[in-house]
Amino acid sequence: MRLGLPAFKMLGASWAAYRAITRRLNAEDTPPRLDDLRDLVSGAKPITLVTATDGNHGRAVARMAQMIGVAARVFVPDVVSRLAIDHIRNEGAEVVVLPQDYDATVQIAAAEVATDTGAILVQDTAWDGYEEVPQRIVDGYSTLFREIDTQLVQQGSGPAGVVAIPTGVGSLLQAAVEFHRSGQRGPASLVAVEPVSANCVTKSLQNREPVPVQTGRTNMAGLNCGTPSSIAWPFLRDGVDTSVCVDDEQAERASDDLGSFGISSGPCGGAALAGLRALRDNPQAHAWYDGQVASAGRTSAVLLNTEGAASPG
Ligand SMILES: Cc1ncc(COP(=O)(O)O)c(C=O)c1O
Repeated sequence: MRLGLPAFKMLGASWAAYRAITRRLNAEDTPPRLDDLRDLVSGAKPITLVTATDGNHGRAVARMAQMIGVAARVFVPDVVSRLAIDHIRNEGAEVVVLPQDYDATVQIAAAEVATDTGAILVQDTAWDGYEEVPQRIVDGYSTLFREIDTQLVQQGSGPAGVVAIPTGVGSLLQAAVEFHRSGQRGPASLVAVEPVSANCVTKSLQNREPVPVQTGRTNMAGLNCGTPSSIAWPFLRDGVDTSVCVDDEQAERASDDLGSFGISSGPCGGAALAGLRALRDNPQAHAWYDGQVASAGRTSAVLLNTEGAASPG
């Protein structure tokens, strides 16, 4: 749970929206508290936060807009579930449903912002010329890795040996690389986990350059992305140890199994466990798995459970 929402995405959306709005209001030098920001906003020209989403990020941006007192317009591809759309609307946002896939929906949102001086794009992926906000989002995600590290130390578990990360455009993965390759921590192995039907990071790692892929439907809605984030890519290329693809059934089974341990997770949340299992069961990856995950010196495998069962994407 993050600020009342059952997914990690609010960590990025809140920080990026706060920074973008304070910049718009020329208030960066004396960063306002949230209440003061609300006052500043009410006396300024109207602002609308705009984003495109598979579900969780859009809901987080909408929630943040409501907290700050600005409007939100959220574009969603029509493969997104009815429930996810309702959740975003219930945060007070205007929702625009489009027949295009996620990548095209992002472009349409960006084009709309270019023609509206009151709009601010808060997008969780970067491309040439649009980098600052996505980097703030990654900075917000870093909270997660700091918290995990602190908890592992407090529990006496030692630093993470392996971290499995559900991956869409790779911004969360970028935050993992930035944290674990900062030189201050033990060298954790980083595993990206993607849906087989939206495997742009795996394809890119195989080709050593960003490769867009065509996406379709998957129950891992938050991971249904066809192009790696441009600012994430160099971090992924240089910092990720391996990637693995899982199908809907594997993700669902993992999520059910986590449920039987009392851990609430949606399919994206279950993907991390499904990914490690897929590596264990793959004859080509088995030796790697044994060395990284099952060897005696490795005391903790961290599975990022990025959404709760109540989160529909
Ligand atoms: C639940 C969930 N997990 C993981 C991710 C992956 O994050 P990224 O797109 O930064 O790779 C997302 C992104 O929307 C998500 O919603």
